[in-house]
Amino acid sequence: MKLATRAIRTGHQRTAEGEHCEPIFATSSFVFESAAEAAARFSGEQPGNIYSRFTNPTVRAFEQRLAALEGGESCVATASGMAAILATCMGLLQAGDRILAARSLFGSTTMLFDKYLARFGIATDYVPLSDLDAWAAAIRPETKLLFAETPSNPLTEMVAIRPLSEIAHAQGCLLAIDNCFCTPALQRPLEHGADLVIHSATKYLDGQGRCVGGAVVGDAKRVGEEVFGVVRTAGPSLSPFNAWLFLKGLETLSLRMQAHAASAMLLAQWLDEHPAVARVYYPGLPDHPQHHLLANGPSAGPEAQQQTGGGIIAFEVASTHPSRAREAAWSVIDATQMLSITANLGDTKTTITHPATTTHGRLSPEARAAAGISEGLIRIAVGLEDVADIQADLARGLAPGPR
Ligand SMILES: Cc1ncc(COP(=O)(O)O)c(C=O)c1O
Repeated sequence: MKLATRAIRTGHQRTAEGEHCEPIFATSSFVFESAAEAAARFSGEQPGNIYSRFTNPTVRAFEQRLAALEGGESCVATASGMAAILATCMGLLQAGDRILAARSLFGSTTMLFDKYLARFGIATDYVPLSDLDAWAAAIRPETKLLFAETPSNPLTEMVAIRPLSEIAHAQGCLLAIDNCFCTPALQRPLEHGADLVIHSATKYLDGQGRCVGGAVVGDAKRVGEEVFGVVRTAGPSLSPFNAWLFLKGLETLSLRMQAHAASAMLLAQWLDEHPAVARVYYPGLPDHPQHHLLANGPSAGPEAQQQTGGGIIAFEVASTHPSRAREAAWSVIDATQMLSITANLGDTKTTITHPATTTHGRLSPEARAAAGISEGLIRIAVGLEDVADIQADLARGLAPGPR
C-alpha cells in the first residue's frame, strides 16, 4: 500500500461491533477469563492486553500505523516527544556511554542530555549538524548514539542521513533522527540508514494542536523490547484518547504536509524578495546550503532524502542597528492579527515565534549566537489558512518604517 493509504488503513483491528472508525479503549486494565489466563498473559505465554500502561488497543493501532509509515518493524508510543527521547536513551544506553549530538537541537533535548542524563553518567558531545567530517572526528570509543534533527529548529539546517548513518555504523554506533519537522510524509530516515526515528507527535502527526504525545520507531529488538521495556516499567505511556487523536491526524498527514509545504514555499519566496527581510532560511529556496537534499529540487543529488521544503520558515528582519534587532522582530510579530503567537508548530493555524526569547531563551547569549539564533530572527510554522491571508498578516509588520 502507498503511504497515504497506510496512513488511513493500517492498525485498526475491527471489533465484533463492526465499527468503521477506530474505537477509543478508555480502560486502565483488561479482564481475564480465568486465573490461568491471567497468569499466561503476565508471563508472556499468551499475547493480549493486560494494563494500559503498556498494552492498549488504541495506542497499539497508532503504533502500528506510524511504524508502517516510517517503514519500521516496531513503534512505541510515549506521553510526549521528550518522553520518547528519554525512553530511547534509557533503553539503549548505560552509564559510561556517550551521545554525539548536533549542536542545533530542540532546547529541551539539549537540557535532557546535559542536565539529566549527565547525572547518570551519560555525557554528550556536540558537533555542527551538517558537518559530516566533524561527526566522524568526534566519535569516541564510548560513543554509542548519534542524535540529530533534520531539518533543524529554527534555522532549517539539514544533514545528509545516509552518510551520517555510515559514519555511525562504521564505529558501531546507532543513529537516531528526530523526524518532527518532516514526518514520514516527507522523509523516512530508516530508508536512508538511520536506526531509530523519534517523533514529537504533538506537532504534525496530530496536526491540529490538540494534544501532546510522542513515539520511537525502529527494529523489534531495540524498540519493541528495550524501549518498550522502559515505557512498560517507568510508565511515560500515551493515553488512549491522545492515540486516537493521532490516528485521526495521520489520516490527513500526506495532504496536510503537501499543503503546508506549498504555502511555505510561496511565503519563503515572497519573504526572500521583501526589502524588510535580511535573510530567509527555508530548504525549498535554491540558495539553501543543503537544497540538494530535497528530492523535488532541480539540484536533487543522490543523497536526496526530503520530498519538499516542509512547513517551517525562519527569517531575519532587517534592522538599522544590531541593538534594534529584537525590537524589529517583535514589532513584526506584534503587528500580526491572525497568526498565533505561540511556540508550537505543525498546526493548521499558522504560528509565529521569536526563538531568541522563547524556544531558545534558556540558552546563554553565547550559546544562542553559536547556534545562529539572532535577535532579529522569527520562525513561522505555516498553517493551512489561505496563503494570501498569512502573507497579508505578515506584510503589516514588514511595511516600510524605521527599524
Ligand atoms: C524537534 C523536536 N523534538 C522534540 C520535541 C519535544 O516534543 P514534546 O513537546 O512533544 O515533548 C519538540 C517540541 O517542540 C521538537 O520541536
